[in-house]
Amino acid sequence: MLIWSSIFETNIELVDLQHRKLFELLNKLCDSFEHGRASEALVNEILQELLTYADKHFVDEELLMVRSKVDIRHINIQRMEHSSFIYDIKNLRKGLCTEDDFQEVSEKLVCFITSWLTFHILGTDMIMAAQIRAIEHGATPGQAYESQNTINYDTATIHLMLDSVMELWRISLERCNKLEEKLETILGVRTQSSSY
Ligand SMILES: [Fe+2]
Repeated sequence: MLIWSSIFETNIELVDLQHRKLFELLNKLCDSFEHGRASEALVNEILQELLTYADKHFVDEELLMVRSKVDIRHINIQRMEHSSFIYDIKNLRKGLCTEDDFQEVSEKLVCFITSWLTFHILGTDMIMAAQIRAIEHGATPGQAYESQNTINYDTATIHLMLDSVMELWRISLERCNKLEEKLETILGVRTQSSSY
């Protein structure tokens, strides 16, 4: 479960509204996982709803940045993070159908979405909001981009961000290990067949 609190507020109405909705969908997904395989259809339905909504939110956020004249370097970072989120969720979702351990895959999915949302909102989106405010107050997009390091986080928020990034790192390490195992199997098979 991911509980909404003021630390997630960017103070941009549309962005906060859509982030709240993403939290809601994530929590709905957590609930559906609790029923195990019995709720597979429901899990897929909510996951699809979350993906569709996230996609819409990313488009809206990117449009907002373009309209607010945010520096293209930041917009490119956002675009990369947004598309990798969709890509990773789709990949993790495949595991729900192919892997035996439904519980393990569902926990990984919830963990990934929770950590990603936490890290992305507290990090990249807060930087975006700070740049939009700076531009509204007369800074050029370049000046706003360069001064992005001035965000002051309290210790609790820093710990939350660190925990999230560690979790994301752990999940991607696991996926790398699995890919390595698959590659070794494929290469092993090829080596064997070519030696005949
Ligand atoms: Fe974003």
